[in-house]
Amino acid sequence: MKILQSWNALLFVIFALSTVCFFMYYTARNSEILKTQRRSFTKEQAEKTIAPYEPSLRDAMTASRTVHCDEVTEIKYQVHAGGLSGKMKIDTGASQMNYWNDIGEVFPVNQSLTYMGKYTTKYNHLVDDAAVIHGPRDSNRVQRIAVIIPFRDRHSHLRIFLGHILPVLRRQGNTFSIFVVEQAGADTFNKGRLMNSGFKFARTVGNKLDMPFDCFIFQDVDTLIENDNLLYRCTKRGLIDHLSTSINKFGYNPLCCGMTVGGVLAMTPGIYELLNGFPNSFWGWGGEDDAFNARIKKKGLKIARPNAELGRFTMIHHGADSLNPHNGGRLPAVRKSTDALEDDGLTNLDTSVEEVWMYATFVKVRVNVGTPPK
Ligand code: BGC
Repeated sequence: MKILQSWNALLFVIFALSTVCFFMYYTARNSEILKTQRRSFTKEQAEKTIAPYEPSLRDAMTASRTVHCDEVTEIKYQVHAGGLSGKMKIDTGASQMNYWNDIGEVFPVNQSLTYMGKYTTKYNHLVDDAAVIHGPRDSNRVQRIAVIIPFRDRHSHLRIFLGHILPVLRRQGNTFSIFVVEQAGADTFNKGRLMNSGFKFARTVGNKLDMPFDCFIFQDVDTLIENDNLLYRCTKRGLIDHLSTSINKFGYNPLCCGMTVGGVLAMTPGIYELLNGFPNSFWGWGGEDDAFNARIKKKGLKIARPNAELGRFTMIHHGADSLNPHNGGRLPAVRKSTDALEDDGLTNLDTSVEEVWMYATFVKVRVNVGTPPK
């Protein structure tokens, strides 16, 4: 009897061990598959769809690149001859200081840069109207792009974002300027007001400097393009381009989980003005993009989207921002928002630019957006 019992125990141990081994093998194998499963394009395919590299950037592009940052601190991905293609891994790593100058220089793009506006040295000077123009400036350019980034206290994300996007935009042969629109003070975040203020600033500056922007891209600082073949431009006449269709946070399911037009959205200034910009009345996290979507519908405009594969984006993981609490009342507010379309947006924007700073690769506009109603 005793012998039988110990045989049973032995058999049980063997069974348990083999189950554990099999499970470990299976997990390792799967993660290996995930690692190598890059949605890659052949070099020929890629070269057909993207503009050629600038020779000065070619070497930097073909090596794998690492951008250091605070908190999230490190982003590693392979950049190969066809450009970016595939998932990115964002790791935590060594902490770095993050001064604005430093952020400005996160990627050394010294070629084809034009600094415009009143300034005494190249950067780090208080200026009035300013733009840093990347890429060719010949007068017959099809599109001059202004990238508007609403911002507060996400320095590490901005570093990652710039290190990531600048080479992509340059590789795509775009002519573009980046405007980081920072909310001053410590009141609740208001993304709509920042978008509108950034738009107004870039529009005015572009016209004054004889460099009018004909495409505006409204960009969340934490949302990173995965695929070079997706052009960062206004692609279809009269349409609004929603580029960030499938985001890793939502398992790359297109427009999953309540997303409407959030992330990365491109359109001509005429369309933005027709929609009266974003509503100014949304304070805190969420809703302003859904209200913008409602505006688009109300005006009968159409949205163009890349397919789920091309429109893949990685969102940098982050916790909640204390000054950007969830806007609990956003759903009813969105439903009502189109009633006030003509009176809530660019037309009644009451914000003021406090400071304008020019850095190596972008201009920062610090805006006082006012205070939320009590
Ligand atoms: C919010 C949007 C957000 C979306 C996806 C919605 O509930 O209102 O602002 O973009 O969720 O996170």
